[in-house]
Amino acid sequence: MSELIEGFLGKSVEGKKSRLPAKLDYLQSATGLFLGLFMWCHMIFVSTILVSDKFFNQVVDFLEGSMFFEPKPIVTSVIVTLVFAIFFIHALLGMRKLPINFRQWQAYKTHMGLIKHGDTTMWYIQATTGFIMFFFGSAHLIMMIFKADEISALHVAYRVVSQNMWIFYIILLLAVELHGGIGLYRLCVKWGWFEGENAKESRKKLAKVKWALTAFWLALGLITLLAYAKLGLANDGKPVPPKTHASLIIKSDKVGM
Ligand code: HEM
Repeated sequence: MSELIEGFLGKSVEGKKSRLPAKLDYLQSATGLFLGLFMWCHMIFVSTILVSDKFFNQVVDFLEGSMFFEPKPIVTSVIVTLVFAIFFIHALLGMRKLPINFRQWQAYKTHMGLIKHGDTTMWYIQATTGFIMFFFGSAHLIMMIFKADEISALHVAYRVVSQNMWIFYIILLLAVELHGGIGLYRLCVKWGWFEGENAKESRKKLAKVKWALTAFWLALGLITLLAYAKLGLANDGKPVPPKTHASLIIKSDKVGM
């Protein structure tokens, strides 16, 4: 905790200038990069329902170790716990930068209104979506840790339709894609990645790529949600029987059940 305070103040307890803020910034960038790239893989994984529900179940099985043993949901629980730890560290580090009282918040908003600079407005969006994700992202990850045996196309479809989780996922999707897109853009600007001869020009190009990517992931996410909704509605939103783990569903398909 004292390290976080030192990172926030930029001074050690003895009043010496600290290197900690720079180190924490580095850790925030690294965890952000990991989560950004992870989300790209995650969106592709979830969207495999667009191929077929059987394919989605096979992917779940594969990620749960079907190459080596009988697929085990505990594998998912362990992976999600690791991702959650990184997510939590990233969020804690991000909190250092949020305005800590109403006065600071007002000063920031006035400043943003006065200078009307794109990157300053982006920071506002990033802080707000980060706040939303702290709650929605944590809830999603905790659910995945404890309900890892309920990841199959039918279970997802049931959650989306019958438990009205589509509302939850639309909010989370918007927050994640805006936050992740801006985050990756800011990483490029901060560390000078893809910076050509003319920094101003490359920043403009980066911003365009960023919006294109955000639009792409948002569209894919919404189409994916629609596919789960269609499957859930076709199933009349009926509860799926307990213990229908993806691997069992695939097996029961084979024996024509
Ligand atoms: C290893 C960790 C994770 C696993 C196994 C996982 C799994 C899943 C699954 C199975 C779904 C389908 C919906 C459902 O089952 O209820 C889903 C959807 C979603 N997840 Fe995750 N998730 C993980 C991490 C994350 C993280 C870190 C975030 C961002 C904070 C996130 C954001 C989302 C969003 C936005 C959707 C909706 C996608 C769409 O609309 O197409 N997930 N996730």
